[in-house]
Amino acid sequence: MTDQLSEPLPEHVAANREAWDRYASEYVDAGHRAWSSPDPTWGIWGIPETALMLLPADLSGKDTIELGCGTGYVSAWLARRGARPVGIDNSPAQLESARRFQKEFGIEFPVHLGNAESTPFPDASFDFAISEYGACLWADPYAWIPEAARILRPGGQLLFLTNAIILQLAVEEFEENDPAKETLQRPMFGMHRTVWPGDTSVEFHLPHGEWIRLLREHGFEIERLAEIQAPLDATKSSRYTFVTAEWAHKWPSEEAWLTRKRG
Ligand SMILES: C[S@@+](CC[C@H](N)C(=O)[O-])C[C@H]1O[C@@H](n2cnc3c(N)ncnc32)[C@H](O)[C@@H]1O
Repeated sequence: MTDQLSEPLPEHVAANREAWDRYASEYVDAGHRAWSSPDPTWGIWGIPETALMLLPADLSGKDTIELGCGTGYVSAWLARRGARPVGIDNSPAQLESARRFQKEFGIEFPVHLGNAESTPFPDASFDFAISEYGACLWADPYAWIPEAARILRPGGQLLFLTNAIILQLAVEEFEENDPAKETLQRPMFGMHRTVWPGDTSVEFHLPHGEWIRLLREHGFEIERLAEIQAPLDATKSSRYTFVTAEWAHKWPSEEAWLTRKRG
């Protein structure tokens, strides 16, 4: 299977490749910490899997694909639970970190350079697909959801964790030290593609009704939508300055969708 380096990329995919190659060095330490943790912890607030219970109870022998695997720690957690992971990511620099960590921690699995919107994998290759702030935030849902449906087996699950829609509505400009407000900052109808002022990377967000319509159109049943609250003992901002713990005690800053492809 070849890495997708040279074919013409959609404009947002090329912009995000350039951006993530630039950001990659800032994600090495966090990636290393997550690789070092034997058990999964999720998202901005580092909530343990034992509290959120997002993953399937039994992953042993399951073929898994991580869409936007970055430094690969999520797939490493799946490998430790007995899965056979594969990762795909759009950034050569992020994959360099992933390959380095694989060697350091002695957990090796295939990682491909490519766009989660159009992957090189055959139909029905995987039992479980996951994206933690990967394709689910940085790829176009109208392209990556049908692609996830294609590469999952009937009955396979798709789990993704991303910024909550209400956080997107409450953040003014996603600038350093300008956290989410208590009033809405933008319309929800028509939300899809976002480029924050002064940035070049392209994010994607959909209102809940549109996620439900799109997922169902592509054969997914929704099993759970977890609207994640910052733990009540979290008092400080996370390293992400766009939301404070105080805000995230009152409204969800993150949401996780657990879905299953109809059999
Ligand atoms: C916040 S990081 C993901 C974090 C990840 N859980 C980790 O272990 O590092 C976002 C990742 O999405 C990747 N990405 C962005 N657009 C993508 C696309 N169209 N296809 C695949 N990966 C993409 C980026 O290259 C980046 O590595």
